[in-house]
Amino acid sequence: MNVSVDRPCTVRIEPYGKIVQTVEGRTLLEICLEEGIRMDAGCAGRGTCGKCRVVVLEGEVEGGVSAAISPEDRARGTRLACMSRIKGDSLVVEVPASSVKPKEVFSSPATEAASCRPFRPDEFSPHEFWSQGPICTRVTVSMTPPTLDDPVTDYDRLINAIRALPGCPSQFRASIDVLGELGSVLRESNWRADAWISAMDCIPAILNVEGARPGVDNYGVAVDIGTTSLSACLCDLSTLTPKAFARCLNSQAIHGADVITRILFGSTPEGLGELKDLVLEDVNSLVDALCQVAGIEPDLITGMQCAGNTTMTQIALGVDPSHIRKEPYVATANVFPPMRAEGLGLRINPRGVVNFMPCVASYVGGDITAGVLATGIARSDEISLLIDMGTNGEIVLGGSEWLVCCSCSVGPAFEGSGITSGMLAEPGAIDDITVTEKGVEYNTIGGGRPVGICGSGLIRAFSELLENGLIDRTAKLQPEAGHPAVRTNRDTLEFLVASTKDREIVITQPDLDNLLRSKAAVYAATVLLVKKMGIELGDVSRILVAGGFGSHIDFSDAVRIGLLPDLPLGVYSFAGNTSLTGARAGLGFLSAQEEVREISEKMTYIELSGDNAYHEEFVRACFLPHTDLDLFPSAGK
Ligand code: FES
Repeated sequence: MNVSVDRPCTVRIEPYGKIVQTVEGRTLLEICLEEGIRMDAGCAGRGTCGKCRVVVLEGEVEGGVSAAISPEDRARGTRLACMSRIKGDSLVVEVPASSVKPKEVFSSPATEAASCRPFRPDEFSPHEFWSQGPICTRVTVSMTPPTLDDPVTDYDRLINAIRALPGCPSQFRASIDVLGELGSVLRESNWRADAWISAMDCIPAILNVEGARPGVDNYGVAVDIGTTSLSACLCDLSTLTPKAFARCLNSQAIHGADVITRILFGSTPEGLGELKDLVLEDVNSLVDALCQVAGIEPDLITGMQCAGNTTMTQIALGVDPSHIRKEPYVATANVFPPMRAEGLGLRINPRGVVNFMPCVASYVGGDITAGVLATGIARSDEISLLIDMGTNGEIVLGGSEWLVCCSCSVGPAFEGSGITSGMLAEPGAIDDITVTEKGVEYNTIGGGRPVGICGSGLIRAFSELLENGLIDRTAKLQPEAGHPAVRTNRDTLEFLVASTKDREIVITQPDLDNLLRSKAAVYAATVLLVKKMGIELGDVSRILVAGGFGSHIDFSDAVRIGLLPDLPLGVYSFAGNTSLTGARAGLGFLSAQEEVREISEKMTYIELSGDNAYHEEFVRACFLPHTDLDLFPSAGK
């Protein structure tokens, strides 16, 4: 590289009309991201995903040419933004729409179709109102005004009124900003006020006092913060009735698809700040969507319970995640104190309380403790397995006496990301595929025009391709099978699933290679964890599968491709988004908060990353369904 790094250069970015004064030597990806253009940078600027394409219209760049770009596109000026360094004193580039990740928030009223497991409040009996109520309780109290004969302070007057309510604790605390406005609030409200109380700590905190608003509901939001996507549910805190659901992709993906690339990017104060802002803005977008669907003001939301993996939790709270990926792979903390919404810039009521589920280890976080809470496996005398297939796969084994867990890198494929035509399990996603002699039949969520394929559709497609001989046992497409949907496009083999006026939905050979590695990782970690505990797979009474595939998973397909062990299908059940369900439990019951803390303390983490046995299991599982067909007796049937 012989480019000077400090010569000024003016870059115009079309179609945004942005004019940027910068210097030679910087990459076009850096410039676009700085300008707020949500570039699709799945490999975090390593030049391998081929997604961050730009077209150089005028001027020159150094580098940026890639085999992923066809000769025709290359001649038109197409380059990879992450590999293109600015050269010369002026440059005009165009960012095609296909290189930009749209910010889409999917929201819906709460229905049975929502991908959240039906919530069972009876699992978290609300014992005693004050200590076992929701994350934030709203009470209305009336006080007599002070007189010369009754000069009790405003605060004591309020506390005495609250203490007079049945079963309330004797001690409270209030912050100086609550005290600062208390005198005016009580007088202006004619001594009838609403107090919000959170008993998350030993001494319940008065979060806010305002003039009484009779009949006003108290709302909370549960949020699952995943590496690839976020899900949220709005609940009425007094009944825990869900009012609306919303999902979106994690905007941090512009800085890499997996937790390791996020940690690398977040290892500087600037990078951490940017990742934190991106994910909290996603949470804000979900809150906006939830409020719109439910027709409520965000101000009425007084509590938020989040569940995320360890990296997402630390980043959202602005805690340096860099030590997570350095030996001996230790997180900063497993438990973080509750915060006020205003401290995180979250657009619920600024005085609302925000809490994160406790983590277990660097690669087993609050999404998994929430999942164990939601499924109740830690309360069962039977041995259960919980397999959560997110961007990381986390597996928990055990019951009421012991719990062990491990984690493996799966990639975002099962969440419909990092795959050519992948998408979230939302309307338009293909979730079922049947290969016929002449083509492909498919089903889309919502029944409309196909937009992409979600995780359950990919598992189904993988199984159908294998069943019909269109891929071999190493997942290689077989053009010689002569099926019209198997074709070559720009030197890459692919399977055409659907074609519409404006898009083709395909599964390419690199997608299949990705899926093969993903399924091998899940299988290898599952069987190894069971082996390490000295038990057999047959000793496991039930296997709960969680994740963001869609509203279902066909277990016969998952076994056929060797994603899950070949066991009677009756042991399997789909648990949906257990992280979100667990967060809802935490939102509604402080007894659930206590239980999840016990779960995090009780769970033993087993590190697989440097374990040769894991590597061997993984390699053996990189076949369909497995190298050892004796482990898959149903494969021959
Ligand atoms: S190729 Fe540029 S970000 Fe992946």
